[in-house]
Amino acid sequence: MIIRETQPYSLAGQVAAFLKSDNVPTAWSQEDGWMMTLCARSALRAILLYLRDSGVLADKTAQILAPQWACTTLYQTFHKLCFPANRPNPDLRGVMIYHQYGFPQNMKAISERCQEDGLFVIENSVNCFESHWRDCDDADQDLRIGSIFSFPKLFPVVLGGALQTDDAHLRQFARDLAPGEATSHFAKFWTYWARLLDDKGRYTALGNPLIMSQAMAYAISDYSQVMPRPTRNILTAPAVAAWLNQRCQNYARLYENLESTGAFDHLEPDIAPYVVPLKVPGGKAEGVAAALDDAGFRIGIYNFDTNRNVFEPRFERTVLVPVHAGLGDDDMDKIVAVVRSRL
Ligand SMILES: Cc1ncc(COP(=O)(O)O)c(C=O)c1O
Repeated sequence: MIIRETQPYSLAGQVAAFLKSDNVPTAWSQEDGWMMTLCARSALRAILLYLRDSGVLADKTAQILAPQWACTTLYQTFHKLCFPANRPNPDLRGVMIYHQYGFPQNMKAISERCQEDGLFVIENSVNCFESHWRDCDDADQDLRIGSIFSFPKLFPVVLGGALQTDDAHLRQFARDLAPGEATSHFAKFWTYWARLLDDKGRYTALGNPLIMSQAMAYAISDYSQVMPRPTRNILTAPAVAAWLNQRCQNYARLYENLESTGAFDHLEPDIAPYVVPLKVPGGKAEGVAAALDDAGFRIGIYNFDTNRNVFEPRFERTVLVPVHAGLGDDDMDKIVAVVRSRL
């Protein structure tokens, strides 16, 4: 069996969630500034439109410093409304900080720099459950415009995201966008089915055309602000708590058993990450990744910002391993054994 970085969802589960009554509350309370959206990029689009509308971003040349290691489609959303810079420069208006794989950026340093340079903060929390910025005493809360979330990365859902902001005007602005856009229903329908079919069809003869439809869906998915009904019904408070708990347990087990190898030297123990970027000694990453692949864990080697600072990232090659809630102790022990055998 192939194990990927995300927890697989069942088609039957999606159908059951679709048929359920629509009144099930999601795990995040609206009173606390949360708004459920179609995906993280639709939440980002609402923020950018708001900043354009209020004149903070003058036009498409206005620059926001963006993380250098994010999915391509994130930059597409920026490009529609402003310009994502990949280096600090005097023309920046704001900065997006991305807590890569759920590991918090150095918010104290970033907050101080943003205060000095007069920059706003958009928090990319797509790999997190809550806003790290909001929970951080060292971060200037007035700098944060809002935070964006992407739930398929943490939970077994096809599509779904959120915007969290303490700015009531932004919330109202985003709410008003939801029904107002001509493309929004089409974007939601098309994106949902394209992603579902792509995921389930990737390893079949239907693969290539499905991947094309997925690419097209990505191009329009930020035009809808509405979370799909199955996602809303699946992300209930008890289910979310159980999945996060399992994720934390998996991470703790890996930490405990691999800490002595140095693979966790750059990581903190108490966290619920999306995936774990293991640091392995120079030249061994390929061997570890290949051995994990042979054992069915299919993720690979990625760059991880060990400096945790979008202004001065230090990208290092790391081997990613999954800790999602579809896995348990046996899987973690298997990962530990494979990694140790190649160090
Ligand atoms: C860093 C980052 N931000 C944002 C996104 C977009 O998330 P969504 O597909 O929910 O819009 C991704 C996609 O994987 C991502 O990797």
